Amino acid sequence: MIDAPYEHVRAAMARGAARSCFLTTLLDECAADGTISDYDREDIKGAVNIVYTAGTDTTTTVLTSFMLAIVLHPDAREKSQNEIDAVVGSERLPEFEDRAALPYLEALLKEVYRWNPPIPLVLPHQVTEDDSYDSYTIPAGSMIIPNVWAISRDPEYYADPDLFKPEHFLSDNPDPDPRAFVFGFGRRLCPGQAFGDSSVWLAASRILAAFDVTKARDAATGMDIDFTPESRFISGMISHVIPFPCELRPRSDKVVALIRESEAAYSM
Ligand code: HEM
Repeated sequence: MIDAPYEHVRAAMARGAARSCFLTTLLDECAADGTISDYDREDIKGAVNIVYTAGTDTTTTVLTSFMLAIVLHPDAREKSQNEIDAVVGSERLPEFEDRAALPYLEALLKEVYRWNPPIPLVLPHQVTEDDSYDSYTIPAGSMIIPNVWAISRDPEYYADPDLFKPEHFLSDNPDPDPRAFVFGFGRRLCPGQAFGDSSVWLAASRILAAFDVTKARDAATGMDIDFTPESRFISGMISHVIPFPCELRPRSDKVVALIRESEAAYSM
């Protein structure tokens, strides 16, 4: 994970066949200052590696939670699709510039983060000075494990915490944004928050614009294939969604053409 991707891109650069990416940019910047030292090389390999290791499992977990949420809550999916249709129309796919004009989608994604915090116990931290919490004294040097899952279920902040209700973020007295805690705390706060959250938004908005995502249907009976929502997440450092059956149907021929166009543009 550290050396092979680096060597792969270096070889492609030497052949003049590398596509511009995070690694090529760092190498070009470094080379522009002179030679690339061993220290630079290890630093660049580490930076490139952490984008992958810290960014993929987390982002995909939020996205699969989103898919599960819209399958289990078709009303939320339809409301979000109606909003996208009204703002974006059907001639193009959503872009970042549309984000501010899609408040229901924003609320839906907040509810996804709250419903299944991707790293329920974040990461252990160490307090650097004596601290206290309620009647507890926390001496400097203690390890603390923030329980963001419990925060996401705290009825003091979230009315009906066990329900999936994006509307709670849209009322006059909205629930607090769970992105304030699901990305961690303090100096070790996730540095990829903006990148991860933007990736989630772009994928979610385009999936909603393009597809009706529903429970899968049994081919023989035509009935929905049901599954039990209570056991949909694995227990672990990252709360992955257990695979579940679903169906994606393109919402129009136009959208199929749009997806093929963007696929062709990307592979050029
Ligand atoms: C929606 C997606 C993501 C979620 C939910 C998420 C969540 C988190 C959480 C909870 C932590 C621990 C913070 C703490 O210790 O207080 C963390 C750390 C980290 N994340 Fe993310 N993350 C996401 C995406 C990304 C992306 C895309 C990148 C990189 C491009 C990234 C890079 C990192 C790194 C490097 C750390 C370690 C920071 C440190 O220990 O100083 N994350 N993330």
